[in-house]
Amino acid sequence: MRTRITEMLGIEHPIVLSGMSWISVPQMVAAVSNAGGLGILATGPLDADQTRKAIREIKKLTNKPFGTNATLLFPGASENAQVALEEKVPVINFSLGKGDWIVKAAHEYGGKVIATVVNHKHAKRAQDYGCDGLLVTGHEAAAHGGDATTFCLIPSIANVVDIPIIAAGGIADGRGLAAALALGADGAAMGTRLMTTKESPLHQNYKNLSIEKGIDDTVYSTRFDGLGCRVLDTKAARKAIRESLNLKKMIEALPNSMDIARQLHLPYFKLFIGVLASGWKNAMQLAYMANAFKAIRIATEDGDMTKGVLPVGQVTGLITDIPTVAEVIERTVREAEEVARGLAKKASGEKSVAAGTAKDPGKSAPKQPRKKAAAAPKEAEK
Ligand SMILES: Cc1cc2nc3c(=O)[nH]c(=O)nc-3n(C[C@H](O)[C@H](O)[C@H](O)COP(=O)(O)O)c2cc1C
Repeated sequence: MRTRITEMLGIEHPIVLSGMSWISVPQMVAAVSNAGGLGILATGPLDADQTRKAIREIKKLTNKPFGTNATLLFPGASENAQVALEEKVPVINFSLGKGDWIVKAAHEYGGKVIATVVNHKHAKRAQDYGCDGLLVTGHEAAAHGGDATTFCLIPSIANVVDIPIIAAGGIADGRGLAAALALGADGAAMGTRLMTTKESPLHQNYKNLSIEKGIDDTVYSTRFDGLGCRVLDTKAARKAIRESLNLKKMIEALPNSMDIARQLHLPYFKLFIGVLASGWKNAMQLAYMANAFKAIRIATEDGDMTKGVLPVGQVTGLITDIPTVAEVIERTVREAEEVARGLAKKASGEKSVAAGTAKDPGKSAPKQPRKKAAAAPKEAEK
């Protein structure tokens, strides 16, 4: 399948692995790129040395284009982006910050830069300072989606920018990819779907939960990591959101932020003083992140069901199996092409070939109805 994104990035299919902390590791990145998509390395949990090592590992595992991300609000992210530039990574994806300096440096060696945005203002600004494409994340996405849903956000941003758009949030199959293209995007990024694959390092406990849970089983709140964040609705997630940054959690943030100091290679007291000096708001945000990082790490790596919290998109409700990365990509493209062909028929009143039966083993079967959890705090704290 060819779109402006495949042309621009030199890939076969317009499918991107989102940069997910602890999930988008070198093996996953290479699996997606080798299957014809674009894998993006998550550098959130890595320091500069680890980022360089991971990039070099990816280069050994694939000769296809790949990317790295940098969530600029996270401590150490600018240093990681700098390493990606030094290593001449083909695609750099940044979010939560201004990446004009990344654009300038990447263009010097022919690299492409994709900004993750969730609103018009940031989309236009990124285009103005030279970004090659946008990754636009709707409300239904895992972690930090915008306020508007993918269905409204993509066309509204496509109306105001000329650069190619990758839609993210709520896409798990060919219907989602076809819909994203119809809405004005040029490709689709998948987080939650690709996280539940054979190659994914996500702990089996949470792979099983991903299959079990429905589209209603996520919670979106600013009380988990200080930003609007969507996570799987579990007892641990509700507790984390209820407690937010109360006194107990503030105290817990002290040892948890040592991981961040380690990542920055800073003596802990220096980080502590530096953060306090940067103002109360920054100190609070770092405390949130220190706790959230720990909760996500123990969910993804250890499968901890009592204190672990996992970012998950609503699209978890469409996931019914644990295929390989290549299977996901191959069937997503095949389904999207079927949907595109079937639409004309559908619009003329004929039954569509891609209407969503479960007979095709490559097509997601509907989840069985299950008991609903009582009175979940869905969207409540938004
Ligand atoms: C476990 C997990 C970790 C994530 N970590 C990050 C991260 O570190 N930085 C980031 O920008 N987005 C992160 N995301 C969000 C994804 O990059 C992406 O925007 C989202 O998964 C897309 O929506 P979808 O899950 O509906 O496909 C994470 C998502 C998941 C599921």
